[in-house]
Amino acid sequence: MANEAMIGVWNDANAKRWLMFRGALTAMVAPFGEAALNRLAPRKGERALDVGCGCGETTAALAQRTGDALGVDVSQPFIDVARSEAVAGARYLVADAQTHRFAEEFDLLFSRFGIMFFDDPSTAFGNLYAALRPGGRFCASVWGPFDENTWASVPLQLVRRHLPGPVRPAAGPGPFGLSDIAGLEKLLVGVGFARVSITPLPLARRTEPSLLLHSGPAANVLREAGEDGERLRPALEREVAAALTDGVRSLGLIVSAVRP
Ligand SMILES: C[S@@+](CC[C@H](N)C(=O)[O-])C[C@H]1O[C@@H](n2cnc3c(N)ncnc32)[C@H](O)[C@@H]1O
Repeated sequence: MANEAMIGVWNDANAKRWLMFRGALTAMVAPFGEAALNRLAPRKGERALDVGCGCGETTAALAQRTGDALGVDVSQPFIDVARSEAVAGARYLVADAQTHRFAEEFDLLFSRFGIMFFDDPSTAFGNLYAALRPGGRFCASVWGPFDENTWASVPLQLVRRHLPGPVRPAAGPGPFGLSDIAGLEKLLVGVGFARVSITPLPLARRTEPSLLLHSGPAANVLREAGEDGERLRPALEREVAAALTDGVRSLGLIVSAVRP
């Protein structure tokens, strides 16, 4: 089955983690989503598809502007939350955006950090391109290069002093799966998109050390270490706090394109 590992993670460990820290994680991604939404410039009467919609905040924002938005996500726990909070015009579907055959044509394709997890990005973006009508617009936020995102790189470095783990996330599906600007442009042009534009958006902020150890690759290393990881967590929180007294840097990419 396509995306089997990611579907498992987003229905289990990542869903639990995200729902536990939903407010703080949403605050971290919100400015990037707003930048992408503003660039997309949704209009009343347009039909929008929100890919990897999570708990549906951005689907709701799209529905409020257009009147009709479908949020799709592989995570049943997230879609349950999204449905319980749905606003008028927002609909939700549990499906894999890489393989699901969308029965309708969309004017708008949007995502806030929900499109980096495909095991076959070319097939996935070909499928999403096919869901857009000619003239349809695409805009999304994804994470830029790992080393430019200290919220992820510094906690991983610190965790690796105590536990075995990769120096950086492996290439492939994951938060940094589309972080290479040239590769992302090639991917989109390859499936047919035109007017591809990718703009780095750097942001600096203060974040709780506990949150940083529950997100990104450091969280995966800790999870894999099981009880050993949990024993280390309080000391690691102190180390992260000491290393990031000035806060963290995040670098998102705002990517847009059109279906000719
Ligand atoms: C980092 S979260 C972002 C969630 C949401 N867009 C937000 O900003 O709050 C990534 C989301 O992508 C979803 N996802 C991962 N792989 C997917 C796939 N193949 N099809 C649809 N959704 C997927 C996950 O379940 C998760 O909800």
